[in-house]
Amino acid sequence: MRRIKQILTDGQPGETLTISGWVRTRRDSKNGFSFVELNDGSCMGNLQIVVDGEVPGYADNISKVTTGASVRFTGELKESPGKGQRVELAASEFEVLGLADPQSFPLQKKGHSFEFLREIAHLRPRTNTFGAIARVRNAASAAVHNFFQDRGFLYVHTPIITTSDCEGAGQMFHVTTLDLARLASLQTEIDYAQDFFAKPASLTVSGQLEAEIFATSLGPCYTFGPTFRAENSNTTRHLAEFWMIEPEMPFFDLQANMQLAEEFIKSVINHVLTSCGDDIDFFNKRIDKTVLETLEHIRDESFAQVPYTEAIEILEKSGKTFEFPVAWGSDLQSEHERYLTEEHFKKPIVLFDYPRTIKPFYMRCNDDGKTVRAMDVLVPRIGEIIGGSQREERLDVLEARMQECDLNPEDYWWYLDLRRFGTVEHAGFGLGFERLIQLLTGMQNIRDCIPFPRTPKNAEF
Ligand code: 4AD
Ligand code: MG
Repeated sequence: MRRIKQILTDGQPGETLTISGWVRTRRDSKNGFSFVELNDGSCMGNLQIVVDGEVPGYADNISKVTTGASVRFTGELKESPGKGQRVELAASEFEVLGLADPQSFPLQKKGHSFEFLREIAHLRPRTNTFGAIARVRNAASAAVHNFFQDRGFLYVHTPIITTSDCEGAGQMFHVTTLDLARLASLQTEIDYAQDFFAKPASLTVSGQLEAEIFATSLGPCYTFGPTFRAENSNTTRHLAEFWMIEPEMPFFDLQANMQLAEEFIKSVINHVLTSCGDDIDFFNKRIDKTVLETLEHIRDESFAQVPYTEAIEILEKSGKTFEFPVAWGSDLQSEHERYLTEEHFKKPIVLFDYPRTIKPFYMRCNDDGKTVRAMDVLVPRIGEIIGGSQREERLDVLEARMQECDLNPEDYWWYLDLRRFGTVEHAGFGLGFERLIQLLTGMQNIRDCIPFPRTPKNAEF
């Protein structure tokens, strides 16, 4: 079946065709015919359809062709005399497939707030903005796979249910089949031996640890899947369920990791700019007037690479008053990250060599005894978009770090085995896919960058 995207680009006047979609608007002319704007989701553009009063059923049915209704039209494509479109369809037949009562269909007028649209997430893909976001998400997913497949990386599916906490932040959703209500009434200690997996299990926060297994067996690999964090942060950059892309490379150090992360972001931006031009133009006009310029700049400029310690000095000398104090040893807040990338460097930066006390156990320790080979990529408007590191490949150092982080090395016996048998220098990173979509679209809130956002107190749809 032809779709509107193809018709708008290469439909030829004189062609007869049938097209189905959802009505965006209908306008009736005084001269007894109607203009319908039809959208089928294949692109931003609508197909204009002219329905003459002579078309069978016009008098009885044209009033049912209302915003949101699904309709099938058959007719002949004509050169359009009007502005704004090359061709239009002169209908000879139409059939209303599904009504949308104007009294109750919520998407009547344009300009609903994004907050309101989040409450009707089942209908928001029918708006221009959410249609465009969905197409950009699709193109960006394809670009992710292309980037790694072109470089010979192996796509691995890491588990969603896990019994280890990769990031060690304790922000995990528990997975259990125990009868919580009964346990509560008995007021006994939970006996996980009785649980489905016979020990505490959770939804994964990262596929990294398992990706390391494949990287140290089969070479460069990547994961691209959902991850879950029960952090109670109601910000515009956090979701409880988000998608992450995690490449992992053996025989790779931090410098090579930083380089790959930069190439990766540039490549995805380039693909989306070339394959979703109309959607990006829309975002640039309607959502954020700087989005196109920002994306081209990120694609074309090289990223700055800055040690954490130097970033702290820059922040201290900035003369700015931040809400959160700046001090060596504490994590950077979003306001600090944004100052560095937006105001100081005015481009993406890769911060590296963070204090070990604020980073997870698996990062490689530097000889200074204070820092680890961590890297974060910060981009304008978002702040951190990538977190990664070179991994600790030395068994004794890794075991000591686990003790320091209050982890039991026995729980990670298989992870430690990778260091016992044929250990190698290796590195990787994780890119938050929805933060990338924020960057690509200019959307302010990450909840609008995933079809059905999960956030504290919110898991409708
Ligand atoms: O920095 P993070 O926690 O790194 C890891 O999970 C590593 N295991 C990755 C690796 O080295 N393989 O998370 C990586 C990225 C962040 O930079 C951010 O873009 C995104 O995941 N992210 C979130 N996105 C949306 N909502 C949240 N709650 C997020 N938490 C992290
Ligand atoms: Mg991080």
